[in-house]
Amino acid sequence: MNKTFWQDLPTPIIGLAPMDGYSDSAFRRICKEVNPNIVTVTEFTSADGLHFSAEKLKRKLYFHPSEQPVIAQIFGKNVETFVTATKVCEDMGFSGIDLNMGCPSKKVVKSEHGVALRKNPDLACQLVEAVANATNLPISVKTRLGWSNGDDLVDFGKRVQNAGANMICIHARTYMEPYKVAPQYEQVYALKDALSIPVIGNGGIESLEDGQRYCSRLDGFYIGQATFGNPWIFVGEKPRYLKDRLPVILNHAQYLIEHKGDRVGTREIRKHLLCYVKGVHGAKPYKKFLSTVESFEQIKTIMTEIADVEFQFYSQRELVTV
Ligand SMILES: Cc1cc2nc3c(=O)[nH]c(=O)nc-3n(C[C@H](O)[C@H](O)[C@H](O)COP(=O)(O)O)c2cc1C
Repeated sequence: MNKTFWQDLPTPIIGLAPMDGYSDSAFRRICKEVNPNIVTVTEFTSADGLHFSAEKLKRKLYFHPSEQPVIAQIFGKNVETFVTATKVCEDMGFSGIDLNMGCPSKKVVKSEHGVALRKNPDLACQLVEAVANATNLPISVKTRLGWSNGDDLVDFGKRVQNAGANMICIHARTYMEPYKVAPQYEQVYALKDALSIPVIGNGGIESLEDGQRYCSRLDGFYIGQATFGNPWIFVGEKPRYLKDRLPVILNHAQYLIEHKGDRVGTREIRKHLLCYVKGVHGAKPYKKFLSTVESFEQIKTIMTEIADVEFQFYSQRELVTV
């Protein structure tokens, strides 16, 4: 990929937001299978970690060729480690590098990483410039409106653009606002008007229609939490019955187990399984089994049983009401 990657994508650009603990290779593959036109981003990965112990973190950054174009997201605050991390990601074959300047977690902010970089725009720009000069891959920045308000967003965006960023994605909330506060897109529109690079919006998007509504003035949108248990959000329509969603869900489990092994893979799929059966008629008594599954066979058996219970319920109801 080259620096014009983001500019060359058809709009609206639609992507799976980077989410630690969720947007791993298995889930990215699933979302791409549902809609091959989306872009996906890895979970955030430490630049220092990639600098000092690349082999361990390379396993976390693993991606399957079918996921391309996939973007590696890095966090940190050190120019030298960002440059090494960029080279590691380039060698692994990623299609772009995203710099995390939005993570609000206590540990990350205390280390002056993530959204803390919004308090240090000089360093933020040094990082962008160093990464942009270290690679021919496109560089993007994912950040929030700002620390406690979005007053400096346009200025910040102009500076990272000048430093070499090829795209900027804004989670339309500030650091001080918790996730559930309604997103504020007005300042993101002002940013779009001020920049020449693509601007992607993110935050509170629960359907493709929401994405179009909030982000029609932007170049596209990333969807985060609304994808949990619902990768079909990327095509706008979820198959009605769990039995029709099962092949995708079982593929998800299989990819996760393939990548992380039985022990870790089955542990990590549990939260996804609970999301997949949310609101499914008759699923409640099975939830405790889903939260302790230990093998692919168990997953298949329990999920098939829930799908049968749901389907029988609706077939009988439809017979009665016909
Ligand atoms: C569990 C979780 C993990 C996240 N991890 C990351 C991350 O690694 N990198 C990042 O830039 N944002 C991360 N985010 C923020 C999301 O990318 C996104 O900006 C946020 O969830 C708002 O979008 P949404 O309302 O569509 O969920 C995370 C969010 C959640 C809920």
